[in-house]
Amino acid sequence: MSAPAIIRTEGLTRTFGSVRAVDGLDLEIPSGTVFGFLGPNGAGKTTTIRLLLGLLEPTGGRATVLGFDTRADGGSIREQSGALLEHHGLYERLSAEDNLTFYARVWRIGGEARAARIRALLQPLGLWERRGEPVGRWSRGMKQKLAVARALLHKPSLLFLDEPTAGLDPVAAATLRDELGTLVQREGVTVFLTTHNLVEAERLCSRVAVIKQGRLLAVGHPDELKASRATRAEITGRGFNEAMLALLRGRPGVVRAQLQNGRIVLELAESAETAPLVGLIVQSGGLVEEVRKDKGSLEDVFLTLMEEEP
Ligand SMILES: Nc1ncnc2c1ncn2[C@@H]1O[C@H](COP(=O)(O)OP(=O)(O)OP(=O)(O)O)[C@@H](O)[C@H]1O
Ligand SMILES: [Mg+2]
Repeated sequence: MSAPAIIRTEGLTRTFGSVRAVDGLDLEIPSGTVFGFLGPNGAGKTTTIRLLLGLLEPTGGRATVLGFDTRADGGSIREQSGALLEHHGLYERLSAEDNLTFYARVWRIGGEARAARIRALLQPLGLWERRGEPVGRWSRGMKQKLAVARALLHKPSLLFLDEPTAGLDPVAAATLRDELGTLVQREGVTVFLTTHNLVEAERLCSRVAVIKQGRLLAVGHPDELKASRATRAEITGRGFNEAMLALLRGRPGVVRAQLQNGRIVLELAESAETAPLVGLIVQSGGLVEEVRKDKGSLEDVFLTLMEEEP
């Protein structure tokens, strides 16, 4: 039996004047998922999060989060979920520990449980040793980690992360990504994450959705999305020419054949075998040195979707 949906939207829509920021969104996110919400700037990702948290009224459709209707019970949703939105919500003059103590009080986590929880969050993020320092002096990456700790403080069952690694250098981003993965697993929290980093989405997420101009273009496991695309084969060698390409294009399963920087680049349907195609090139006088076949990355899928859709 599949896990119950923790987030469900039906035709969820939000317009701002003539802009359809979120346009008829149908989503179902099972409990325990790390869900990646991908899309270009202005696609409607942040607006969707604000709708799901009940911070913004939909202009059409509906959404239930943790079993609560976002229009009627936004308060309950916000109590039972954690969120890291565009502002990290930290007090720069307070130390890391005092920041978390402050928020723990807000959540009515007291005494020993509070101290233990703060330590349990700061340690895996590598911040425990530096807990006494004022946050204002910290780097962006460290503040971002602390903001993650803040969002997880009250053990929410659902965590919203709006571009958690935005503005971090590649090393800091990779570290935070790894630590996030560990924490999320340990806490067993369902995550709704937006990112522009497709490697990040591929590493962290068991399901991703791609949106553009408020509309859902694709949803599935990153591998499923990649599998739905053609396979790429790149053939390196010498003596390749247009006549060969014409022959290749006539073969079943060859979606596209092109010469790129002296290499033959093929797009193949799922069923196509490369060996006979290489044979064909050799028979026509081509010298084949190397054949590389791959599925393409999630980034390829994303870019193709962006090109295909108006
Ligand atoms: N409060 C608002 N008033 C008017 N328009 C808004 C408002 N909030 C969002 N929009 C518009 O809705 C669209 C979606 O914006 P949103 O911030 O949700 O995009 P996003 O996918 O989060 O983009 P980014 O990747 O840049 O963060 C944009 O066209 C934006 O200008
Ligand atoms: Mg945004």
